[in-house]
Amino acid sequence: MVSTMEKANIDWANLGFGYYKTEKRYVSNYKDGKWDEGHITSDENIVLNESAGVLQYAQTCFEGMKAYTTVDGKVVIFRPDLNAQRMYETALRLEMPPFPTDKFIEAVEQVVKANLKYVPPYGTGATLYLRPFMFGSAPVMGVKPSSEYQFRVFASPVGPYFKGGAKPITLKVSDFDRAAPNGTGHVKAGLNYAMSLHAIVSAHKEGYDENLYPDAKTRTKVEETGGANFFFVTKDNKVITPKSSSILPSITRRSIMYVAKEYLGLETEEREIYLEELKDFKECGLCGTAAVISPVGKIVDHGKEICFPSGMNEMGEISKKLYDTLTGIQYGRIDAPEGWIKVIA
Ligand code: PLP
Ligand code: COI
Repeated sequence: MVSTMEKANIDWANLGFGYYKTEKRYVSNYKDGKWDEGHITSDENIVLNESAGVLQYAQTCFEGMKAYTTVDGKVVIFRPDLNAQRMYETALRLEMPPFPTDKFIEAVEQVVKANLKYVPPYGTGATLYLRPFMFGSAPVMGVKPSSEYQFRVFASPVGPYFKGGAKPITLKVSDFDRAAPNGTGHVKAGLNYAMSLHAIVSAHKEGYDENLYPDAKTRTKVEETGGANFFFVTKDNKVITPKSSSILPSITRRSIMYVAKEYLGLETEEREIYLEELKDFKECGLCGTAAVISPVGKIVDHGKEICFPSGMNEMGEISKKLYDTLTGIQYGRIDAPEGWIKVIA
């Protein structure tokens, strides 16, 4: 079905990445050992006990995904099964009752359908960001998991995550750690982002766009940024990405590695990447749902500047090909691999 619905009156092309209240959201509660049926509500507010698990011990996790209007006017979402599965695994790591993966996809679908007028039109550069999340809602006092939980999904139309869109950004090699070797870096726990707030505010004050977090144990290897994974292009056009058990397994990263190999015929490799090697690479980019593919022009490692040959004005050649192919698939201009695109309307 092609969506012909009238759209909200929004200046789509000038949206930043922020919260914009839409009409409907999904909510489901977990009590007495089970999730209820779940329903759509207009109420964006949540009333909680003062001692709720989320408020005291940060028992919360989330996902991030997007709905796109395709070139032929359909509304689609991208690989929602992988978000559902990742949230399932995150919940297990945080001692939360996992939300069933089929219900997760259904909930996301319901929220998109209920907010169709907020799905940005094709060609505006904006998308409808979807935020499934879950938190401990019952009171706790001792340090233990909550006995009750709430799962929600809301939607917000968004523009580019980094101001300037496709303009290369500058990163700082952070002195702070984002994730511990045996911690929660590999899951989407809210606490990982709380950890990164001081680091990102400090980096912004110093004029950087984001942090590169090295591995916490040796501080010699590249991990990720606060909200995206890395990829690099070597001088012989191989696309490589860091292998680590303390970074989030990005769905965008997994997708572009596939695209690099299967659509562009490039060699790919997931391996440990040392800070020492950065100077040898041709291109560097960040990848994620919010970041899409954001080119990195420069990384500053304690005063030492690493400038990528692709420069500070535009995306490098391979990054651009990855970007065009990935977004081509998302916007229906290029045939998607089996199962990547779910049509909602
Ligand atoms: N790394 C971190 C820390 C993130 O928050 C995100 C965003 O979801 C990503 C990587 C990218 O993951 P994905 O491509 O699944 O959005
Ligand atoms: C995403 O890309 O969806 C994220 O969750 C990253 C950031 C906004 C936290």
